[in-house]
Amino acid sequence: MSDSLLGRSLLWETILQKETYPIFRLTYLSQPAKPFTDEDFDDIESKSIAANNARDVTGLLIVHDDRILQILEGREAAVRELYAKIEADRRHTITKLVSTVEDEERLLLTWSMVVRKMTGIPEEISAQYIQLYDELLQAEGESEITIDHIDLCKVISLFGSLPV
Ligand SMILES: Cc1cc2nc3c(=O)[nH]c(=O)nc-3n(C[C@H](O)[C@H](O)[C@H](O)COP(=O)(O)O)c2cc1C
Repeated sequence: MSDSLLGRSLLWETILQKETYPIFRLTYLSQPAKPFTDEDFDDIESKSIAANNARDVTGLLIVHDDRILQILEGREAAVRELYAKIEADRRHTITKLVSTVEDEERLLLTWSMVVRKMTGIPEEISAQYIQLYDELLQAEGESEITIDHIDLCKVISLFGSLPV
């Protein structure tokens, strides 16, 4: 099955499925070791679709030049196990574990998505992302990821999924 068809059928399964366990949501910030190439994006994207689905992990990955933000949701053990792998990935350095929380519902229904470049995203949205990223990075201790933050990330990924 093509990645696109697999993605659609997994999304439908996730929408139909009711979670029987608490959702653990982890958010981190990182910086690329060097600018990501198309090969890096292809590698991360293709691995994430299959591997995250196998773990029942959904989420969002935003890469805006040197500002990377990822949110992962799923069973706590699955999210922590995946995070350990991502943390060990030398293509980037994690600069901040922003928050780890338990929630009753999954807010991100899709598997991880890679936003390659912010081209085509309104300047205002891009500026909001930079502001959010910098605030989270500078905050002391953990920061709350609010519904507004998640909505901003969703808007970015929607624009990011449009053809440029
Ligand atoms: C910024 C960033 C985000 C990543 N996100 C994921 C992810 O959501 N899921 C995933 O399986 N791998 C992700 N990866 C890739 C993992 O770090 C790792 O390469 C992958 O899990 C394959 O590991 P393995 O070969 O040991 O199985 C990400 C890598 C980077 C640099």
